[in-house]
Amino acid sequence: MNTIAVSLPIPEPGIGILRASGEVVVRDGAEPLDEKGLIGFVSGADALVAMLTDPVTERVLESCPALRVIGCYAVGTNNVDHEAASRLGVWVTNTPGVLTDATADLTIALILAVTRRIVEGDRLVRSGGFERWSPDFMLGTSIHGKRLGLVGIGRIGSAVARRAAAFGMEICYASRSSHPEAGTHGWKRMERDELLATSHVVSIHTPLTPQTHRMIDARALSLMRRDAILINTSRGEVVDEAALAASLVEGRLAGAGLDVFEQEPRVHPSLVGLDNVVLLPHVGSATIETRAEMSRLVATDVARVLTGTTPYHPVVTPPSPRRGTERKK
Ligand code: GLV
Ligand code: GLV
Repeated sequence: MNTIAVSLPIPEPGIGILRASGEVVVRDGAEPLDEKGLIGFVSGADALVAMLTDPVTERVLESCPALRVIGCYAVGTNNVDHEAASRLGVWVTNTPGVLTDATADLTIALILAVTRRIVEGDRLVRSGGFERWSPDFMLGTSIHGKRLGLVGIGRIGSAVARRAAAFGMEICYASRSSHPEAGTHGWKRMERDELLATSHVVSIHTPLTPQTHRMIDARALSLMRRDAILINTSRGEVVDEAALAASLVEGRLAGAGLDVFEQEPRVHPSLVGLDNVVLLPHVGSATIETRAEMSRLVATDVARVLTGTTPYHPVVTPPSPRRGTERKK
């Protein structure tokens, strides 16, 4: 019988789906696992349902020779060493599509929260600071007619574009290739530097790769308008967080909305004291409906690999997959 390790409890229907293809071991500790802890937990298992906090390194893949599939309960799979998985014959799958709308919604929520000072206003009311209405009290900025610059226009970036267009924003994007719907919708493609220099809202929608690591660095930030805001719902490591904090502290940027950080769960201390920054605890896909769908997708693909079928959402298709060991029930 197969053993399937699940590194944190996930909602149904995934566990039920997995139980039909093996013995499911769900870890219930809340602390994230480090490399050693992960090896200890996964050792001997045929499959791992991994969280984005699990470091699935080459060492983990080598130390767990029975592992045939890493099912990532996420769309971003930067926590897995793709090259090592491919070489060692391990499938890697993810959960695309089902979290696009939830993440795009949260991106819009951050844009509105920063431009309309929603969290700051809430803090003010709670602390008794709402004394009277006045013409110049708590003024934010309008997004209608402003330029949204999307860095990356995959599923999530284009879902943000469609939403922002309904708010009357002008949509521009920087990407290696043009988006098939761009012509129809009037989305303009431009070089990243021009996008950074001309957008009122810059929003990041790229996966984390060696090429995008700290892509938004001090130089990129210095190109941005002083009245612009930066939104990041992708991965913290795409932005040089210390450089961003410095830009905000020095007033070279108008604000930021961040759902992800370079060293989660830690946040750069300078960001915490700033009123023009909205900070969220990595909740882009955190809706009941989305998490249930992610559970269904990840479990279905893990079950498919274990029964010798091709998964629906592979991100690594190993040229010579590890074979399951024949074991008696
Ligand atoms: C969340 O950040 C994900 O990649 O699913
Ligand atoms: C992720 O799902 C993306 O393509 O943006």
